[in-house]
Amino acid sequence: MIMDTIIEVKGLKKYFKTPSGICHAVDGVDLSIERGKTVGIVGESGCGKSTLGRTMIHLTESTEGSIVFNGEDITRVGKAKLKELREKMQIIFQDPFSSLNPRMTAYETIEEPLRISKRFGKKEIAERTVALMRLVGIDKRIENSYPHELDGGRRQRIVIARALALKPELVICDEPVSALDVSIQAQILNLLQDLQENMKLTYVFITHDMSVVRYLSQYICVMYLGQVVEHCPTERLFENPLHPYTKALLSAIPVPDIHMPRKRVVLKGEVTSPINPKPGCRFFARCPHAAEACRRNQGLVEAEKDHFVMCSRLKEIG
Ligand SMILES: Nc1ncnc2c1ncn2[C@@H]1O[C@H](COP(=O)(O)OP(=O)(O)OP(=O)(O)O)[C@@H](O)[C@H]1O
Ligand SMILES: [Mg+2]
Repeated sequence: MIMDTIIEVKGLKKYFKTPSGICHAVDGVDLSIERGKTVGIVGESGCGKSTLGRTMIHLTESTEGSIVFNGEDITRVGKAKLKELREKMQIIFQDPFSSLNPRMTAYETIEEPLRISKRFGKKEIAERTVALMRLVGIDKRIENSYPHELDGGRRQRIVIARALALKPELVICDEPVSALDVSIQAQILNLLQDLQENMKLTYVFITHDMSVVRYLSQYICVMYLGQVVEHCPTERLFENPLHPYTKALLSAIPVPDIHMPRKRVVLKGEVTSPINPKPGCRFFARCPHAAEACRRNQGLVEAEKDHFVMCSRLKEIG
């Protein structure tokens, strides 16, 4: 089977200079994404999920590593290329209110990227705008409404329509439903799924919510302090989590059956900071299985087919 890779990053790093030292927000990530699929990125707050997403699509420039998109090296690009990439790679953020211009109506917001691209005439822009509104389920009656007049779900639909206006191939969904009412979340997730099918979109889906990622993604990466510590097909992760951090993460999900026995792994120790990290396993301070060997730098190993884990004590911990 030939894999149709849309984007591949290798050794991707993004460091920030901060007053207290260098923040290793993303610290050597390898990731290959198949076209038309959804890759979930999970991990606790501050582990680098958003920075990884933003760096992949050049919203922020990488410190080190390479990015290949549709077979082309785009690690460093000039202005013209960047403009082209902006159309093919889009991002949807958590909070639709701050992503929208408060002075633009729903219609103007969706129309704007079509206008700016200078690729279409007036009539075509109008037709496409109306088609986009229909595609994301925005009623024509609200086309002249401003963001503050709309609920979170409608705002996020506008954000999605705008992101899709120029037919992107890759969309980074950065917690796209976590700011929405629970009742609306499922509608937006279903919309994103339908759009993926219709437009053959590839998603990088960033979330804290393990049940959302299980439902949506075919592949999953678990991040911890700037590194991917485990990655595999989604179902594998839920059936057989291997990294001690992943086990703790999964043990915290509420289970529907209260009689089902399960062991909650409670993490001890403080969250280590991504600023000037020590060599060795980043999870060292909190890991119940930490030992001397973990002080050495770790690499990802293929523990079983297509299931990679960054832990040197897998055999011992079983
Ligand atoms: N512009 C910046 N300047 C300095 N540090 C930054 C910057 N952006 C992010 N960071 C730091 O990089 C690390 C990763 O942040 P990031 O926002 O990518 O995490 P995240 O996993 O998306 O978290 P959350 O789940 O809270 O959204 C954090 O320690 C954060 O403080
Ligand atoms: Mg984030």
